[in-house]
Amino acid sequence: MRGLVARAAGTPPRVEQVDLPDIDTGQVRVTIRAAGVCHSDLSMVDGTIAAPYPLLLGHEAAGVVVEIGDGVDRVAVGDHVVLNWAPPCRACWSCTHGEPWLCEHTGTPATEAGHTLDGEPLHVTLGLGALAEQVVVPQQAMVVVPTDLPFPTAALLGCAVLTGVGAIRRTAAVRPGDSVAVIGLGGVGLSAVAAARAAGAATVIAVDVSPAKADLAHAAGATDFLLADDTLSRAVRTLTGGRGVDHAVECVGRAATIRTAWRATRRGGQVIVVGMGGKDDIVGLSALEIFHSARTLRSSVYGSSDPDRDLPELARSVLDGSFDLDFLVSDRITLDEAPEALARMARGEGARTVVQF
Ligand code: APR
Ligand code: ZN
Repeated sequence: MRGLVARAAGTPPRVEQVDLPDIDTGQVRVTIRAAGVCHSDLSMVDGTIAAPYPLLLGHEAAGVVVEIGDGVDRVAVGDHVVLNWAPPCRACWSCTHGEPWLCEHTGTPATEAGHTLDGEPLHVTLGLGALAEQVVVPQQAMVVVPTDLPFPTAALLGCAVLTGVGAIRRTAAVRPGDSVAVIGLGGVGLSAVAAARAAGAATVIAVDVSPAKADLAHAAGATDFLLADDTLSRAVRTLTGGRGVDHAVECVGRAATIRTAWRATRRGGQVIVVGMGGKDDIVGLSALEIFHSARTLRSSVYGSSDPDRDLPELARSVLDGSFDLDFLVSDRITLDEAPEALARMARGEGARTVVQF
């Protein structure tokens, strides 16, 4: 099959012919119909996130089950599924203590799953490698969704939407009347903006370095758009009675924007880190400002969500029109155009680009 492969950090990925493993007990073959291009793919290409190479990219996808292995009872051939890049084992400490998104058996950026490239082992992103025509994955790594849910939307539910929405609803637990700032308006941040508005937040301040994101921010439901420049914290204060927001949600993945989120938050408020940054990118906070600001700093992995529970609910709210995500798919492309989509993402353009198969 064909898939998008990165051969080394810093070199543009290319579409290559790769070999998939045969399905084993408990595994499922899915033909991919749509796959999103996510910033984490870019981070594994540009070296921000350390990963082994060669690496088959992609972890945000939806498709159709075409073959099931022995013992598979969660899905059937013909089911439409959204892939889950953190399938919980349901047995480890985290899974049995209500935090399946922190399952001890998930979270490795890249693993070997039996794929090969020119006869050599090929690593796959987050156990999936979904920017490809097919995946062979454990049955736990997918959630069945209604067949009338369009594949591009379904694909985005599996990463950007679950992450951004979960950060608002579950990690931050935004309540009606709250004020929220979202920093970084890619697929993740725009989903967070939409969720904050849907949660009844009175003020939703969308922040980006790119002025071109203003229209998308308003389409997602932001009450205000601000440029991430030197005047930002003053502008945020002006919009929040001089205090700062109750919740600032960082959706970039850099120390500098975590600092921006920190400064935008009121005393006693909380900073939610959604972006996945580099291990040497250090956030400086003085002991006094941590104490005096009384802020909470929390991270949100996979939106503190359980995809088995939360994806079907999200799919339903998209289908019944109560949660509109039409603004999120900004570009539809072929797999061959995916390298250019990564380059556009690096320049901060568009909302989400989806590869359709
Ligand atoms: N201040 C504000 N916005 C910024 C800044 C900055 N200093 N630097 C970049 N941005 C904006 C970009 O202009 C872009 O609009 O952040 C946005 C990031 O969007 P995408 O590249 O589309 O990223 P996305 O896929 O949404 O992921 C965001 O979440 O899951 C993690 O690894 C992922 O760290 C990444 C983050
Ligand atoms: Zn992702």
